[in-house]
Amino acid sequence: MVRAFGLVIGIALLACRPPQPPALAPAELPQGVTQADTAAGNGFFHGVGGCNACHGDGGAGTDEGPALADGRWKLGDGSYEWLVHITRHGGYGMRDRGDEPVAMRGPTVLDSVQVLQVAAYVWAISRAGDGSSPSSAVAAPSR
Ligand code: HEC
Repeated sequence: MVRAFGLVIGIALLACRPPQPPALAPAELPQGVTQADTAAGNGFFHGVGGCNACHGDGGAGTDEGPALADGRWKLGDGSYEWLVHITRHGGYGMRDRGDEPVAMRGPTVLDSVQVLQVAAYVWAISRAGDGSSPSSAVAAPSR
């Protein structure tokens, strides 16, 4: 029974496999970030991190959270450092209109390596775009 349940979950996971992060050349990634990091971050974004619940699969956006893949930012400058910061801290203590704590806003469930990888994934999807914001136009942070 338990095994059958696991099988069903496995099939469900396979069926809704999230879109893969775009393949960016190493030179286009922030310093110290690898393609393996963005791939791992993809898993956490759609998995334990639960970011897709609000930001949509592939960061496409939902009613609960803004798109992250369009390369437009409201709360910060879109730098890798800022993405790491917001992924790690959100805005602690903030609540939605129903006065419910907002998951994004609490302490993250991700460990420190996972935070870096999720931020790397968001960096990658936000720079793949539709050509309107070519990655070459967004300088990698020098820090
Ligand atoms: C419960 C819903 C929810 C979850 C889960 C969530 N977010 Fe958010 N996130 C939001 C909302 C809502 C905003 C916009 C807040 C605002 O505009 O004040 C936001 C904003 C952001 C922003 C800034 C967007 C901008 O335009 O400046 C980033 C980056 C971000 N989230 C990343 C993440 C990551 C990474 C995760 C997973 C670790 C995550 N979020 C999980 C709801 C969520």
